[in-house]
Amino acid sequence: MDKEVFLTAAKKFGTPLYLYDLKEIEKRFEMVENTLLGVNHKVFFAFKANSNPYLVDFLRALGLGADVVSLNEYKLALSVGFRTSEIVVNGNGKTTDELKTYAESKVGCINVDSLEEIRRFPNLSARIAIRINPNVDAKTHPHISTGLKKNKFGVDIQTASRMIRNLPSNLKLVGLHCHIGSQITNISPFMDAFRSLKDFIEEENLNLEFINIGGGWGIDYEHNGKGLNVRNYREKVVPMLRNFGVPVHLELGRFIIGPAGYLVTQVKEVKTTALKNFVVVDASMSDLIRPSLYNAYHHIKFLSNDSQIVADVVGRLCESGDILAKDRKISKPKTGDLGVVYDVGAYGYTMSSNYNLSLRPPEVAFDGEKLKLIRRRETLEDVVRLCKYPEN
Ligand code: LLP
Repeated sequence: MDKEVFLTAAKKFGTPLYLYDLKEIEKRFEMVENTLLGVNHKVFFAFKANSNPYLVDFLRALGLGADVVSLNEYKLALSVGFRTSEIVVNGNGKTTDELKTYAESKVGCINVDSLEEIRRFPNLSARIAIRINPNVDAKTHPHISTGLKKNKFGVDIQTASRMIRNLPSNLKLVGLHCHIGSQITNISPFMDAFRSLKDFIEEENLNLEFINIGGGWGIDYEHNGKGLNVRNYREKVVPMLRNFGVPVHLELGRFIIGPAGYLVTQVKEVKTTALKNFVVVDASMSDLIRPSLYNAYHHIKFLSNDSQIVADVVGRLCESGDILAKDRKISKPKTGDLGVVYDVGAYGYTMSSNYNLSLRPPEVAFDGEKLKLIRRRETLEDVVRLCKYPEN
């Protein structure tokens, strides 16, 4: 993205702000499609990564389906025009009421997370997939690893087998689902998981409409070429996918939208202590919690032409954990300079908060020519409105 775009956006909408490059989203999706060439497949976009209505609509128009994990994500998907058949529902602890809504509207598929959930189903017909937990180590951050026995998601194959044998007649098993974690950069966990899925399908002699292999494709946060190697995926994983002999569904979030998002921020102070340099910016853990929560690395660049320093880039919240980058070599900024945090398109805005009464930043889309405000900056009014209810 050109430096001028950041400068113009900051001038027009103020900082901090989220900026999305629509062309980059298109390119990322194309990369996915090229990787999967020759596999009968459909990609669903994981709303949890980014649920800005404009962006999910943009993705819908590109041909993606919707992967939702809450009734609100479901309602949003419908409101921007996804057909129910293009929606897959995930998540654990779904309530009977929620299941009823999904079943009544004939959602594409409900990925059932447990034996208990099967028992909570209303007596309505529904298309379901069982989420298998293959007990595979995705070798990613423990908080975003989901395919191990100790994780809360899905069922082991013995339980899945029992569920299949005792499936109530109103439920139609149309697929199997498996999502082992997020930000996976090594293909071997995928291969292990898909091998066990394939074995299970053969052992049970299942006749499925599709298999859903979840998401998890990792991106190159460190800008050192170590994201998921799609050439490798194409070479080693794609033949396994073809071998399933049925269409393959994917639920991708981060890979599609992560690198297309930027957090533009302004330097408020450069502080030097006996031990460290701190660059204090107006974005914080309330805008982007990934560094504080997962110790995640996000590339940061200051639009300054000065000498290099090593510094912690921090926000202005009252927490020592309010860090965007630690011990980072950066070009030395001055107060007022702009900084850009990279790869924040996924799990950025969706995980933001009002901590310290921070107000959520605006979101802006760039189509290669024009900037478009797709969510305005939150105001204090917006936040306190929830506390004003009629006297009771
Ligand atoms: N499908 C299921 C069932 C999922 O749980 C997830 C992500 C996805 C698909 C999409 O995964 P992706 O393609 O984006 O890796 N907040 C964390 C990530 C949590 C991911 C949760 N599930 C982070 O900021 O790294």
